[in-house]
Amino acid sequence: DRIPATLIEGDGIGPEIMQATLAVLDALDAPFTWDRQAAGMAGVDAAGDPLPGATIDSIAHTGLALKGPLTTPVGGGFKSINVTLRQRFGLYANLRPTRTVVPGGRFDNVDLVVVRENIEGLYAAMEHYLPCGDDPRGLAYGAGFNSRAECRRIVRFAFEHAVANGRKKVTLVHKANILKILSGIFLEEGRKVAAEYEGRVAVDERIVDACAMQLVIAPQSYDVIVTTNLFGDILSDLAAGLVGGLGMAPGANIGEKAAIFEAVHGSAPDIAGQGIANPLALLMAASLMLAHVGRQDLATRLDSGIDKVIRKDGLRTRDLGGQVNTHELTAALVQAVS
Ligand code: NAI
Ligand code: MG
Repeated sequence: DRIPATLIEGDGIGPEIMQATLAVLDALDAPFTWDRQAAGMAGVDAAGDPLPGATIDSIAHTGLALKGPLTTPVGGGFKSINVTLRQRFGLYANLRPTRTVVPGGRFDNVDLVVVRENIEGLYAAMEHYLPCGDDPRGLAYGAGFNSRAECRRIVRFAFEHAVANGRKKVTLVHKANILKILSGIFLEEGRKVAAEYEGRVAVDERIVDACAMQLVIAPQSYDVIVTTNLFGDILSDLAAGLVGGLGMAPGANIGEKAAIFEAVHGSAPDIAGQGIANPLALLMAASLMLAHVGRQDLATRLDSGIDKVIRKDGLRTRDLGGQVNTHELTAALVQAVS
């Protein structure tokens, strides 16, 4: 019953937060058998490549990965690791749950999910310069694309996520009033998919700018948000800001053949090696991974453990204004889930 999974420790604080996460997963008796692989600076050191072939082969084989933050090598013309992984494995859905874990912020009851389309839209990198006036590069031209099939697939993913997680409403976020075709196609297909769920999951629609404002004023009015690539990128970070920032944000990149789970924050080189990093985002990513493989029971135990230690016992790492180090927090979490 063991599930093979690729493990990428990551750079900077990666090894520290991964060690913490593995300790908690062990305490939960999580069913993963890890295949350790390198990427990022560790990949450059080990194989001269931030995304070595062995790492790609491993993910192709396991279809499942837990990934620590990777330092993007500066210069050298390396392509973005995340973009390469998304394209190589067709990771079309980016899932970003946002819930209040640390009380006492602006909102005590945020609990929403942003589902972002991950491979089409305006991030297709179809852009170039055109001449304008005397300047041969005086004008920037860019294009994007959304296919009907992909719009249906991402909206269906959002509704299925809602059904599986007992969520009540999906909001289609668009800008079809201005981008009548590019965004209009998403709204059109989204409405068709929504109709299939009538009576089970409610559907709502918001124009993206209004959605951004309402998220800041009344995030409780959202449950599941589904949207195209660019809008989803921005709204998911906005949502993270409502509950304490990227240090508390887990993310999943999900395709039909593979899924990669990660913390949204980076490798935090400024605090690496000091034993003070906050492992919560990676732990929450591990919780998403447990749910993904059908172990919602363990995911729930992990989430409850985090709630107990952070909400009830009030333990906080320094980034959350506390004094607890990674090791102390991990020990408390291990006890809470055992
Ligand atoms: P960052 O997220 O690494 O750090 C920003 C600030 O947040 C720093 O002050 C850092 O100490 C703090 N921070 C981040 N995570 C934390 C945690 N778990 N606990 C406590 N404090 C935490 O962003 P930055 O500095 O812009 O990027 C550093 C490197 O990470 C770069 O090479 C960047 O390319 C890479 N990066 C990788 C990502 C990924 O692999 N998914 C995502 C974002 C950045
Ligand atoms: Mg982003």
